[in-house]
Amino acid sequence: MFHPLPASIPRARVADIATFAPAGRLTNADLAKMVETSDEWIVQRTGIRERSIANGDQFASDLCLEAVQRLRERTGSLERVDMVIAATSTADYVFPSLAAQVQFGANLPHAGAFDVGAACAGFPYALNVASALVSSGQAREVLVIGGEVMTKALDYTDRSTCILFGDGAGAALVVPANDQSYIERCTYACDGEGGKYLYRTNIRHDIAGTEDDSGLLRQSGSDVYKWAVRRISEAIREMLAAENLTADDIDWFIPHSANLRIVEALCARTGITRERTLTSIEHYGNTSTASIPLAMMPALEDGRIKRGDRLLLYGFGGGLVHAGTLLRW
Ligand code: UT7
Repeated sequence: MFHPLPASIPRARVADIATFAPAGRLTNADLAKMVETSDEWIVQRTGIRERSIANGDQFASDLCLEAVQRLRERTGSLERVDMVIAATSTADYVFPSLAAQVQFGANLPHAGAFDVGAACAGFPYALNVASALVSSGQAREVLVIGGEVMTKALDYTDRSTCILFGDGAGAALVVPANDQSYIERCTYACDGEGGKYLYRTNIRHDIAGTEDDSGLLRQSGSDVYKWAVRRISEAIREMLAAENLTADDIDWFIPHSANLRIVEALCARTGITRERTLTSIEHYGNTSTASIPLAMMPALEDGRIKRGDRLLLYGFGGGLVHAGTLLRW
């Protein structure tokens, strides 16, 4: 587990975020026409009612550029952005990176660009790296993006995975901190031996003795479920303890929206109340790297999240990897 440098070094903060989800909707009733499932099963087991779905010629870069345009409207300018970091598992191409496409499409001529491959944990992973770049002075401002077209990587004959995921994008601007607003702690972790439980094959067509050249998402749901509840609750407790905080010190908990039952179990095991927990699962499904910003956006827009509030963002997913960002908004 990574522990940041002492508080005496300059810190970074998240200045603002923006999101975009495509207009197309895929409901549980639509899925029940495609595989043997039901609205009742999906709602009970996952909390998902519907998800956004990109159309045939909408790709992750299109969703990200929409989110970046909205961020630009909220922040006024992205002129000082020196780096674009895109977290994704469904980039348009292996290369050019999604970040490079955004750098070009959003006209950020002075920025470097790279993708982070940390599956559903990608948003906090990318935020943490952005925080380090700004803190160290390697970048003035960093544009962090989580963008996915998960529905293009699903097997719509596999009812255990196709009901879970949806499409969307979120963008965040990371800048130097001020007294009220700063990133307090960044953590990263990996349990690589669990990689076989959640994967998409690429150049190599076998994993842990299983052949699969489909390039589609495969998951052993119950293994990932058990790991997430046990390991992520433990990691969150460790993270709070390292800062001498209790669950009551967290104003808003924004875990990756993988499954509402997982979120509820994390709340129960960490002591963070459900009322102070934000999710995007019900109307977007699991949008991987976009799920955390999609969960935050409504609470920012209606004023529930206030400047100075303490937020705990926590992502987890394929790898198996996880990461947390503790911050003052
Ligand atoms: O973002 C990355 C991290 N990913 C996750 O966090 C996902 C973690 N896993 C999960 O969310 C859950 O494991 C699932 C939602 C995928 C599955 O829920 P579950 O309660 O763990 O169900 P299960 O896999 O234990 O399956 C129970 C039953 C099985 O039938 P049998 O063997 O008991 O007859 C499945 O075949 O439910 C069946 N089933 C379904 N039935 C109706 C699986 N998917 C469906 C479905 N509709 N869509």
